[in-house]
Amino acid sequence: MDEEAKITPWEVTSTTTIDYLKLIHQFGCQPIDGALVRRFEKVTKMKAHPWLRRGIFFSHKDLDLVLNAYEKGEEIYLYTGRGPSSESLHLGHMVPFMFTKYLQHALDAIVVIQMTDDEKYYFKENLSLNEANRLTRENAKDIIACGFNPKKTWIFSNLETVGGSFYRNIVQIMRHTSGNMIHGIYGLDLNNSVGQFSWPCFQAAPAFSTSFANVFAQRHVQCLVPMAIDQYPYFRMAREIAQRLGFKKPATIQSRFLPSLEHAHDKASSSGQREVIFMSDSKEVVSKKIREKAFSGGGMTKQEHIEKGANLSVDVSYHYLLYFLDSDQELKHIAHEYKAGRMMTSEVKKRATEVIWEILKEHQEARSLVSDDVVQLFMNPDREFDHSRHPKNPVVDDLEEQHLGFHFDPYFRSSC
Ligand code: TRP
Repeated sequence: MDEEAKITPWEVTSTTTIDYLKLIHQFGCQPIDGALVRRFEKVTKMKAHPWLRRGIFFSHKDLDLVLNAYEKGEEIYLYTGRGPSSESLHLGHMVPFMFTKYLQHALDAIVVIQMTDDEKYYFKENLSLNEANRLTRENAKDIIACGFNPKKTWIFSNLETVGGSFYRNIVQIMRHTSGNMIHGIYGLDLNNSVGQFSWPCFQAAPAFSTSFANVFAQRHVQCLVPMAIDQYPYFRMAREIAQRLGFKKPATIQSRFLPSLEHAHDKASSSGQREVIFMSDSKEVVSKKIREKAFSGGGMTKQEHIEKGANLSVDVSYHYLLYFLDSDQELKHIAHEYKAGRMMTSEVKKRATEVIWEILKEHQEARSLVSDDVVQLFMNPDREFDHSRHPKNPVVDDLEEQHLGFHFDPYFRSSC
C-alpha cells in the first residue's frame, strides 16, 4: 500500500490504488485462491458466487476450517453488521449483505446481524441516539429485502439488546482487553471518548455464539464473519481473545471496497463527499450518475480510444459490471472488446446502467413489501430459530418465503 493509504474501521483514504495483497499481509489473513473456491463448491454443492470467482471476496481466515466443519455436519453461523448512519443503503453497503444471504443458503446457516446504533452515536457527530435507533429500523428493511430466511435470521439493535448472555460475553472480553490493545489495533487514544474506546468489545462479542442464549443456548458454534476488509481488525482482536477465553476463534471472509463513481480505487461512502448509487435511486438518477460521474478508462478522444483501447483497471463502469453482471461470458466479451478499443465507453456505461437498474428495481420492489411488522419479526429475539439443514431445493425455499406473505429472491438468479 502507498504511504498515504489509511485503512481503519472508520476511515478509508488512499491517494492511489489500494494494494489488497499488501493488506492481506499486513492483517495476517490469507488470499482466496482457485483451490479454495473449488473446495467451497464441492462441500456446499453450490456454484461459487461470482464474487468468489472474481476475487471480490478475496481474503479469509480459516474459511477452509469452516468448510471442513460443515462437511462433517457441524453447524456454522454467520455474523455481520451495519452501522446505521444514512436513510438508504448504497450499493457498496449491500455487498456484504447480498453475499451473506448467499452464504446463508450455501451453509444452511443462522445469520445474526448487529445494528450498531450505539457505535454510530459514539462516532458520528450530530447523530442523536433516537435518530440512530430509528435508522436501525429503516436500514433493516434494506437488509431484509436481500431475501434472508426469516427462520434463520436475527437482526438486533445493540441499544435494545445489550444485557443477559450478550453482556456476559462483553464483560469477559472487556476484562481481557487492555487499553494498549485498543490503541495498538485501532489507533484510538486518550482523547477518544470512553464509548469509542470500549466499542471494539461490543463488535467482537457477537462472534461468539454464547452471546446469544436465545439463538444457541449455551452451545459453542463456529462463527464465520463476512465483511469488507476495513472491519477485519475487530476480528483479529476477537480471535486473540477467543484463545484467552477458551471460545472458538471466529473465521472471516473479506471483500474489497466497491468503488465510488468518480474513482475506481476509492471506497464508496454515504458521507456526502463521494458520488455513490443509493438503493433508492430512480432509473433516471442512476443513468445520469453513471453517464456524468462514472470515471472512464477509455481514450480522451474517439481516435485515441480506437488506437489505445480502455484501461479497465480504472474504469468504474467496468468495475460495476465485474460486481453485478452475472454472465461470465458477457463480462469477458466486454472486457476484451473495451480493452481493444472496439467498444466505446458509452456502450459500457449503458450496460452498467441496465444491470444496476435491474438490481435496484428488484430491490425497491422487495423493500416495499417489508412492512414494520416484518421488521419486527426479524428483530424478535424470542422465537424458534431453524437450525436444521435442508436439501438445497429452491422450491422449498420459495414456499417458505410465500408463507410470510412476501416472495423475493433478487440476488439469486444464475449465481446459484
Ligand atoms: N462497524 C460496522 C459499520 O460501521 C457494523 C458492524 C457491526 C459490522 N458488526 C459487524 C460489520 C460485523 C461487519 C461485521 O458498518
